[in-house]
Amino acid sequence: MAADFEKQSYWHHRFASETAFEWLTPSATFISFLEPYLNASTNQRILHLGSGTSDLHVCLRKKGCADVTNVDYEPLALDRGRVIEESFCGDVVMKYAVADVTRLRADLSAPSTFDLVLDKSTVDAVSCGGEAAFLAMARGVRECLAPGGLWVSLSYSATRFDLEELPFDVCVIGKIPTPKAKVTDPDLYYWCYLLRPR
Ligand SMILES: C[S@@+](CC[C@H](N)C(=O)[O-])C[C@H]1O[C@@H](n2cnc3c(N)ncnc32)[C@H](O)[C@@H]1O
Repeated sequence: MAADFEKQSYWHHRFASETAFEWLTPSATFISFLEPYLNASTNQRILHLGSGTSDLHVCLRKKGCADVTNVDYEPLALDRGRVIEESFCGDVVMKYAVADVTRLRADLSAPSTFDLVLDKSTVDAVSCGGEAAFLAMARGVRECLAPGGLWVSLSYSATRFDLEELPFDVCVIGKIPTPKAKVTDPDLYYWCYLLRPR
């Protein structure tokens, strides 16, 4: 990823014209890995990090999970998210909050406790800002998880969470083959990680 991907100004410029875009994979593919961790009957509290112009929140709502807080540090992304929810669902019931995912404790109003935290390539954008930003995000996620809570993250990096200080145990729950330009291109994957607090 280009270094600018961690900068809000990059996303502001991009979302001025972009109304819908999916990073790495369609939301339905990501949801297929999430299914075992979704529990609509318990009013699961879900935090969706770096929602962008994705329709992941709509897919969650279709699965019966509507207690979703979509956060992004770029307000235009949240505007886009509301419009997407309204156009697919007919109303807006989810929460949309401007928050920097490297400052979750400060930016989310208290008490902010979640059973499931999701990100689809937001960790990749944040990691462009270096290890300190990545760790700040990870520690913030850890702090806002309820007991038994989990973080599921989709990344293009096979080594995204290879860091000793990480306050999570990590396992890969899925890998998605990336499109190839030529049949002889090497096999590359996007990685779906499950993170359990240590
Ligand atoms: C690679 S895009 C992924 C968007 C969406 N999750 C998807 O799958 O299409 C990264 C998103 O994270 C947001 N983002 C990047 N750094 C952030 C930060 N520090 N705090 C909050 N949002 C951030 C960007 O505004 C953008 O919407």
